[in-house]
Amino acid sequence: MSDSDSRFSDLDQRREEAQQGGGPERIQRQHDKDKLTARERIDILLDDDSFEEMGTFVRHQSTAFGLDEKRPYGDGVVTGYGTIEGRLVYVFSQDFTVYGGSLGRAHADKIVRIMELALENGAPLIGLNDSGGARIQEGVVSLGGYADIFKLNTDLSGVVPQISAVMGPCAGGAVYSPAITDFTFMVEGTSYMFVTGPNVVKTVTQEEVTSEELGGARTHATKSGVSHVTCSNDVDCLLRIRELMSYLPQNCEEDPPKRADASNSKDPEALDTLVPDAPNKPYDMHDVIAHIADGGDFFEVQPDYAENLIVGFARVGGRSVGIVANQPAVLAGVLNIDASVKGARFVRFCDAFNIPLLVFEDVPGFLPGTDQEWNGIIKHGAKLLYALCEASVPKVTVITRKAYGGAYDVMNSKHIGGDLNFAWPTAEIAVMGPKGAVEIIYRRQIAAADDPEAAKDAFIEKYRERFAHPYVAAEHGYIDDVIKPHETRARLIRGFDMLENKVANPPSKKHGNIPL
Ligand code: HXC
Repeated sequence: MSDSDSRFSDLDQRREEAQQGGGPERIQRQHDKDKLTARERIDILLDDDSFEEMGTFVRHQSTAFGLDEKRPYGDGVVTGYGTIEGRLVYVFSQDFTVYGGSLGRAHADKIVRIMELALENGAPLIGLNDSGGARIQEGVVSLGGYADIFKLNTDLSGVVPQISAVMGPCAGGAVYSPAITDFTFMVEGTSYMFVTGPNVVKTVTQEEVTSEELGGARTHATKSGVSHVTCSNDVDCLLRIRELMSYLPQNCEEDPPKRADASNSKDPEALDTLVPDAPNKPYDMHDVIAHIADGGDFFEVQPDYAENLIVGFARVGGRSVGIVANQPAVLAGVLNIDASVKGARFVRFCDAFNIPLLVFEDVPGFLPGTDQEWNGIIKHGAKLLYALCEASVPKVTVITRKAYGGAYDVMNSKHIGGDLNFAWPTAEIAVMGPKGAVEIIYRRQIAAADDPEAAKDAFIEKYRERFAHPYVAAEHGYIDDVIKPHETRARLIRGFDMLENKVANPPSKKHGNIPL
């Protein structure tokens, strides 16, 4: 065997060793938990044969607590770059089979390196997290590694899309990297996120709670809003990330990709009868979206959290749009704290990445009550208002029914920068609904009437005639056109085409101060 032959076979052996991670037994344990390995996940996430690994032979240099006896190649994380639908992405995938995927200095440095490349080359970062957190044996050096990642997550924020998948445990400060990134995916039954686990909770608060209840995928999808997409298993999670990427640009300097295959096979006339005659009867805004979006496809974000506001991505005429829609089927589509925060974060993402906004509006107002007031609906509602005021991407609104009060202003009214504002003939645009309005402005007349109920009904009817339609707003130019529901998709396609080259020049500043 020549010298180079033996060196080549030595390389092959080392490569094989690196592929093995923590070895076959631990890989089997991973599979037994219905989890894929770090490398199997990358294979599904990326286009076939596109992955280029970096730092394959990196090993930790620590000696404490017997670490020098076990120095597996890769140090518990697989990092590199590849493509999704032909477009470059950077990926790290933590390997739970090596020290439980825990993060030490070498592990952190590998992640930091691809984050720097993502920043310099303007391509998205996808992190597949499956880790016991800071590597205990490496002490403060691990904490430093996490902090380096948090800092870079913040530097990358708004420059390139950052996606986190939590595909195993994620404890302690480790949850803060996903939290800074744009979207967090969780897998039902296998992923957990918490700042302190059930044992610490029990010691400190005497509460008994399981990992699943405390920080499982369902909990974060429904209660905390920390998770944006809930997936049934690892494969589902990775394919859904691919799907999300199809709506996004590579970085803040680019527009999102445009697709040629733009059609919707649903009967548009069905929209004409969707809004019920009775103003308090609900309907599902998802039906509107399904008729408007190309192929009826909608990538919904946080579908199980603050369901009274729907947010997510669709394509209209081949163009990516971010949809923000009141949902009359849940809490009558009212705006509350959770909906405002959910909407604001989504709007800011779209604005950062040049994704036009499409608002469907049917909102009776902000939710009244001590719970909302004491928990700060004023400052939280202001987030959505601020985000929509600030957004400089093309912004189009369709009012399907109610547009009342402050919520009218907030939901992308012309006054805060709506570029095209349409209303359906069923729209009602006023300071408040008829009943509430007459009870205030005709209170004395109603009380003095022989038949107060009849008087109230008559005043309500009068108010309805005056305000429960879109034409007063249209007279003032606050509505660009009143359109029939079945015309909506075509009008939106033309509208977004018209707005393609919109340039807005916000005042120069370091950064604004969104109410937090
Ligand atoms: C070093 C770790 C580790 C860690 C797990 N391992 N977590 N090694 N540092 N943080 C090792 C285990 O020793 C074990 O090694 C292997 O990984 C698999 O772990 P198991 O416990 O056997 O697996 P499992 O039963 O599935 O439990 C997984 C787990 C548990 C829930 C993650 O290991 C755990 O609770 N780990 C500690 C979590 C934690 O408190 N981390 C620190 C958080 S604080 P062997 O060789 O025995 O198989 C933090 C600060 C962040 O992260 C700083 C940011 C500011």
